[in-house]
Amino acid sequence: MDEEQIREFSEKMSERISTLEDRNDKLLETARRVEGEKRYVETEMVRLQKEIRRLKQELDRLKSPPLIIGNIRDILADGRVVVKSSTGPDFIVNAADYIAKDNLIVGARVALNKQTLAVMGVLPPSLDPIVTGAEIIAKPQATYQDIGGLENQMRELREAVEDPLLKPDLYRKVGIEPPKGVLLVGPPGTGKTLLAKAVANRTQATFIRFVGSELVQKYIGEGARLVRELFQLAREKAPSIVFIDELDSVGAKRLEIATSGDREVQRTLMQLLAELDGFNPLGEVKIIGATNRPDILDEALLRPGRFDRIIEIPMPNQEARTTIFRIHARTMSVASDVDFGVLAGRCEGATGADIHAMCTEAGMFAIREDRDQVTMTDFERAVDKVFGENPMRTPDASGAMYA
Ligand SMILES: Nc1ncnc2c1ncn2[C@@H]1O[C@H](COP(=O)(O)OP(=O)(O)O)[C@@H](O)[C@H]1O
Ligand SMILES: [Mg+2]
Repeated sequence: MDEEQIREFSEKMSERISTLEDRNDKLLETARRVEGEKRYVETEMVRLQKEIRRLKQELDRLKSPPLIIGNIRDILADGRVVVKSSTGPDFIVNAADYIAKDNLIVGARVALNKQTLAVMGVLPPSLDPIVTGAEIIAKPQATYQDIGGLENQMRELREAVEDPLLKPDLYRKVGIEPPKGVLLVGPPGTGKTLLAKAVANRTQATFIRFVGSELVQKYIGEGARLVRELFQLAREKAPSIVFIDELDSVGAKRLEIATSGDREVQRTLMQLLAELDGFNPLGEVKIIGATNRPDILDEALLRPGRFDRIIEIPMPNQEARTTIFRIHARTMSVASDVDFGVLAGRCEGATGADIHAMCTEAGMFAIREDRDQVTMTDFERAVDKVFGENPMRTPDASGAMYA
């Protein structure tokens, strides 16, 4: 080989080396990319496997046989329990090991396996959503300042309800038993509900408000169960005040002839009586009832130890009517010529609710005439309108209204 040939050869070789190097670089890059993809796919696979496991578990969970709800009747010495399920007879069964022995108590609500009826879990006690949905804790807006002319009734109600709850020692020292239940009695619209709400607003106790008609249920035994759960809730949340508005819807006199619907109402009433008898007057639960039909209430409700304090809410007198006018006109823009005393004099026999309506009407008159102040004439027309609308409402019909 001469020199010429050698040079040529080495040139060719170096060219070839550089193309190979290029190729090598490209291949390395591809290798890196594929490596990255592989890692990604691997993590994706792990993720999907997890997802599969989760879905399988979910499927198992959904396919798991239903559990039966039962109650524990008794605990045997060997650790087995006697349960009663809704299916009828009592059974002796085993309880799952993971259930703490302390939770297995007589009366507890438990979940049972469908086939073996073994106790699979202990459930929290049930309270009807209607009961838990009752107006609890949420404090009403009404305050004592919103009530006109019922000072004595207000004081009496607080003495009867709040003091025994918050200062039971005082009663123990003096040695008397406070009333268990207080009944507010008076014509419709005189402020019974308002009064109870104001007490609720001020008290430190839990306030549970229920309307009597809500306790009247469609199915046999439901009403009584509601009453039971209502008082159970009251005891759990003690100190508490249970307010049953429109008590007459459950507490009407028991009659000889009755339809099955009446009998259901009576069962509810009996449960209410039993609950009233069951708690201690110095205990942590007080009950307030309100009705505008005391004449149809069952005497059993009014017996000592039940609703043994009756507070009469009278029709407002001249002075009270003036105050009620002031209260409802507080937020209104009233002309200086308005004299509430004169207005009160013109509406003998009006209830607080009527006066509220009159104030609203007076405001409506002003708005209709595009004024931003309510004048005496507006009020006078409103008084006439509210009285005029109801032909039953004459000054001397007041007492007959609710008798
Ligand atoms: N003494 C009163 N003072 C102020 N407002 C009253 C009074 N009595 C009734 N009212 C008005 O009438 C409305 C209805 O009163 P309410 O307490 O529901 O009557 P009831 O005695 O029928 O339960 C109240 O919301 C309030 O506006
Ligand atoms: Mg009411």
